[in-house]
Amino acid sequence: MQFHIVTLFPAMFTALDTGLLARARRQGLIGVYPHDLRQYGLGNYHQVDDTPYGGGSGMVMRPEPIGAALDAVITMSPGLTRILLTPQGELLDQATVRELAAQSPGLLMIAGRYEGFDERVRELVDREISIGDYVLSGGELAAMVVIEAVARLIPGVLGNPASLAEESFAADTLEYPQYTRPEEFRGMRVPEILLSGDHGKIKRWRESEARKRTARRRPDLAVGRRFPT
Ligand code: ADE
Repeated sequence: MQFHIVTLFPAMFTALDTGLLARARRQGLIGVYPHDLRQYGLGNYHQVDDTPYGGGSGMVMRPEPIGAALDAVITMSPGLTRILLTPQGELLDQATVRELAAQSPGLLMIAGRYEGFDERVRELVDREISIGDYVLSGGELAAMVVIEAVARLIPGVLGNPASLAEESFAADTLEYPQYTRPEEFRGMRVPEILLSGDHGKIKRWRESEARKRTARRRPDLAVGRRFPT
């Protein structure tokens, strides 16, 4: 799967050169391709932003460099799903991540800087996505969030696909509490049931803990939906 990003800061994406994603890239499971928006800027100064019509503070990203960059990438890689990263977009959740993971051949994301985009940029994309109700100074970190969340759903990227299956209800419930060694840490003991070896009981305990935890912490998530087995 291809992840293309139109950005003023391509170097930020070297942050994805570690761990799971680096391995996935080496194996050819994913490709991460930042495209420098400055190259498509206007005039001698490669301008990409300008003052807003009607006045007001801050700068607005001009539509032509973004349009030119999108055209160039789409010409090289037809069929990419075009995404504008913006706090005004639909909120990213695991269901959306699954949808994005199904896009072939991949995603073309626009990471903006400055105060915002010329409104006409919205006509150039397929969807707008926000990673949360807060404002970042640019879309780059949002793009990386999308890449990380989507990439781990691609077959072969995760070392242990079973953990994906266990997470398949992640959109509906929070995870159950997990423990590893030691049995006792600073006076806190691992729940006896996990040491019992009774897998049926353990499974039911985990489901019940996950439901309780979800109801307590995230009552906005649908509680009590069926657990996949
Ligand atoms: N750009 C700035 N803030 C953002 C957010 N919350 N989500 C996506 N893109 C952004």
